[in-house]
Amino acid sequence: MMLEINDLRVAFQRRNHPPTQVIHGLSLSLERGQTLGIVGESGSGKSVMSLATMGLLPATATATGSIMFEGRDILTMPERDLCKLRGNRMGMIFQEPMTALNPAMRVGAQIAEGLILHKGISRAAARTEALHLLEMVQIPRAAERIDSFPHEMSGGQRQRVGIAIALALKPDLLIADEPTTALDVTVQAEVLDILDDLVTDLGISLILISHDLGVIARIADRTLVMYRGDMMEEGPTERVLRQPGHDYTRKLLDAMPRRVRASLGGA
Ligand SMILES: Nc1ncnc2c1ncn2[C@@H]1O[C@H](COP(=O)(O)OP(=O)(O)OP(=O)(O)O)[C@@H](O)[C@H]1O
Ligand SMILES: [Mg+2]
Repeated sequence: MMLEINDLRVAFQRRNHPPTQVIHGLSLSLERGQTLGIVGESGSGKSVMSLATMGLLPATATATGSIMFEGRDILTMPERDLCKLRGNRMGMIFQEPMTALNPAMRVGAQIAEGLILHKGISRAAARTEALHLLEMVQIPRAAERIDSFPHEMSGGQRQRVGIAIALALKPDLLIADEPTTALDVTVQAEVLDILDDLVTDLGISLILISHDLGVIARIADRTLVMYRGDMMEEGPTERVLRQPGHDYTRKLLDAMPRRVRASLGGA
């Protein structure tokens, strides 16, 4: 098993108040090459769960339970080892593409930076690899765009640069937190197809977080539904979407446009 989360609970400290618990016992497992979709309304704990898995919770958070990544617990791992894991084994596409990019640095250099740091390759080799990645995520005229700054690109292109950065180090586990929310629907579909192909071609495991059940239906093998920090249900995507075992999942499905629901074939 690539990732196994057991009874994860996360609370945030507050000044002069008891801590607020925002995840109340989450368990899941993910095999190599599998895509797990996570859905749930805003504030249900999806991003907190992703940050916990990356070992990136802020200092004000307390987490209990365990997050085993190939047999080692992320929650108790020293920062130095976490850094290495994040450089080599786990990647994340953040919910806000702009905040994940450095506005003052050309995109090619941003992609190359991690390669130079973690893989110890030369600047020239890293630039060649960055170009290759920009082509892989289908940035048009990549050879010119490699020297662009983030603000010179469209939102969809920036999001693709974010994907290129996450993929540069060839992670075994990729967490994509709402990777297409900021995008035009047609570009959304393109970016999702790119992600889906990468999972197939590179054999990585993907956790895909989305509000959009249509997106989940398209690429997730299994789906987990969260509600206010609780896990409502988890199972094969088809089963969860066709025969939701929980009221909340049914409501999520009902909230979808009829046309999209029809394309899921059930509900
Ligand atoms: N740094 C933080 N300090 C205090 N509370 C936080 C912090 N980050 C998140 N929370 C709280 O944790 C809960 C879960 O937040 P989270 O960001 O995981 O939601 P989400 O499911 O990703 O929502 P969205 O779909 O809007 O991105 C929310 O109630 C939020 O207010
Ligand atoms: Mg979020």
